[in-house]
Amino acid sequence: MKQEKGEAVAEVTEAQIAVHWKEEEYVYPSAKFIGQANAADPAILERFKEENYPECFKEYADLLTWDKYWHTTLDAGNPPFWKWFVGGKLNACCNCVDRHLAANKNKAAFIWVPEPEDEPHWTITYQELYRKVNELAALLTKFAGVKTGDRVTFHLPMVPALPISMLACARLGVIHSEVYGGFSGKACADRIVDSGSRVLIAIDGYYRNGRLIDHKAVVDEAVEEAKRQGIDVEKVLIWRRFPGRYVSKAPMVEGRDYFLDDLLKDYRGVKVDPVSMPAEAPLFLMYTSGTTAVPKGCQHSTGGYLAYVAGTSKYIQDIHPEDTYWCFADIGWITGHSYIVYGPLAVAATSVMYEGVPTYPDAGRPWRIAEQLDVNIFHTAPTTIRMLRKAGPDEPKKYHYHFKHMTTVGEPIEPEVWRWYHEVVGKGEAAIVDTWWQTENGGFLCSTIPALQPMKPGSAGLGMPGIYPVIYDEDRNELKAGEGRAGNICIKYPWPGSFQTIWGSPERYIAIYYEKYCKDKNSRDWRDWPYLSGDAAVQAADGYYRILGRVDDVINVAGHRLGTKELESAALTTEEVAEAAVVPVVDELRGRVPDMYISLKPGLAAGKAIEEKVKQNIVKMVGPIARPRNVYIVPDMPKTRSGKIMRRVIAAISNFADIGDVTTLANPEVVETIRKMVQGDEVKPSQEVPDEIKKFGAGD
Ligand code: WT7
Repeated sequence: MKQEKGEAVAEVTEAQIAVHWKEEEYVYPSAKFIGQANAADPAILERFKEENYPECFKEYADLLTWDKYWHTTLDAGNPPFWKWFVGGKLNACCNCVDRHLAANKNKAAFIWVPEPEDEPHWTITYQELYRKVNELAALLTKFAGVKTGDRVTFHLPMVPALPISMLACARLGVIHSEVYGGFSGKACADRIVDSGSRVLIAIDGYYRNGRLIDHKAVVDEAVEEAKRQGIDVEKVLIWRRFPGRYVSKAPMVEGRDYFLDDLLKDYRGVKVDPVSMPAEAPLFLMYTSGTTAVPKGCQHSTGGYLAYVAGTSKYIQDIHPEDTYWCFADIGWITGHSYIVYGPLAVAATSVMYEGVPTYPDAGRPWRIAEQLDVNIFHTAPTTIRMLRKAGPDEPKKYHYHFKHMTTVGEPIEPEVWRWYHEVVGKGEAAIVDTWWQTENGGFLCSTIPALQPMKPGSAGLGMPGIYPVIYDEDRNELKAGEGRAGNICIKYPWPGSFQTIWGSPERYIAIYYEKYCKDKNSRDWRDWPYLSGDAAVQAADGYYRILGRVDDVINVAGHRLGTKELESAALTTEEVAEAAVVPVVDELRGRVPDMYISLKPGLAAGKAIEEKVKQNIVKMVGPIARPRNVYIVPDMPKTRSGKIMRRVIAAISNFADIGDVTTLANPEVVETIRKMVQGDEVKPSQEVPDEIKKFGAGD
């Protein structure tokens, strides 16, 4: 029964990984960078010392404009439902837009770069943003009838309509819930239903890799599926990619679908007072995949969240109001919410938004954008860096841009890729931060402070100011820096950016994130409630954390988390499929890609058509990002005697890794059959793979 437990095996492999891990040399920021940095004085480390917790976070809250100042920094009376800046009132839209008008009215808030290179950029000043947000807020109240506390779902790509819609909701205290534009209608519907949204904001089409995507067709699927699940979306508000010209083939449904550009004409110049919200009022939901098929709606607060993203934008992103900052991520993910919209706008920056893919029309595109707009801070994910490095390793050299600072986020970055980012993209001039955090966290948890701590390729660095990480083993023993063992990285105390709960599921919130290491469930002391991140990590002797990947059954494709259960249930919607198991495969560009294994219902013959159908169903139900690399039709899944599918074994096969001992399985003979099917007859030497793949599915 050794395999079912997994812990003993895992302990050994974790230790091995850590021992084999080569320490990288420090890389130091330039004097020029240090000279201008927002956090260049080590006194910040003093101010955020453990003994100053939680009052240290006042410094972040003071970056905001409060309608009513707060009286209690942290109310931990009902753990783990933390309340920050209690008694305070503020409006997020006002903090991101209105308050900048006096000094920065005609400064660019956003510069939107459409994907087609011949289409001009759109520079949206703070003044123009203010007008647009007010007009939409007026329409949302008067026409769509939404009220403070209601949820509104968006299914929007990277167009200015998205931040405008977010800020209009924030102005009204309406909770927005953006579903990544590339997600399917079904995925959008699940989120509409879970959040109970009656209004959906979407767009007719957008450009992606040179194609004008018909998005309205996906929106219709979402509304129909939500209806099947019992939620009637009353109003579907459609932006048009080209105002006045409808680019979708899907018909507009009378009495349900409306063109926003038409309706907005009636609200020209109308102003709406921002609603003063309690600090702990929810600002938005951001769904993320977990280990079950039901996505989790992470509920983020107004005051704590905004304070945290403002503080980290200032000190870690080193954003000054005069910077041109480009976070090349999608606003459909938390990175975009925190570090394209709320954080940069809270500190009055110019935030660049790009509609399309990195390599359209060629791998020089991002660097042309950087040159044209004179971007000086750049932020993206390792998957994009790998893609650009592969497609155009020398492209950055051809363009005259200069980054003072660059960020990486979302996955561990390989030291070789890091060095290309530093030397070629950053021209050896930019300070790099490798920021580790999650949808649940609101903002960065680990990173170096760029002017104060040296970079180390492949390491995320130390805990952020006020963030106290700790690594526990399975028995809650604290693993020490430099010990060389990996364990579960947790955060000892709450922080203002943390999510407040899972929408509608407070029990799941406690069970998933706080149960494992809480010694006493009745304790009202926040020190007893460490936050479980679900990632494995090791801490080097210098205190820097290296994140090894997730310990749960989540596959991180190109920086996006996909739940295994979500993918498997999509595969199982294929009529012919009896069983499905998905595993991560190491991929040079996307970090991980899914390989799907299926077995068929009795009497059916394997064939390409079924494989294709499974792929299509996954794309339809989850989205193109989840398309499996391969679908293998196997005679049976390797199973334990208690009938559990051994994902670890198939993950080893897909990755050409050591399969280990399978003799205790119920059907050991099937392993060799599957191996031959995937790897061919010849037995090749096994590959070294990340720990997360060795243990994949151990938590089943
Ligand atoms: C998971 C969270 C945070 C916004 C984007 C992803 C992995 C994230 C790093 C990093 C190593 C990282 C973790 C984490 N991750 N940043 N710098 N180094 N791994 O948000 O979809 O919630 O995914 O991404 O495994 O748990 P997310």
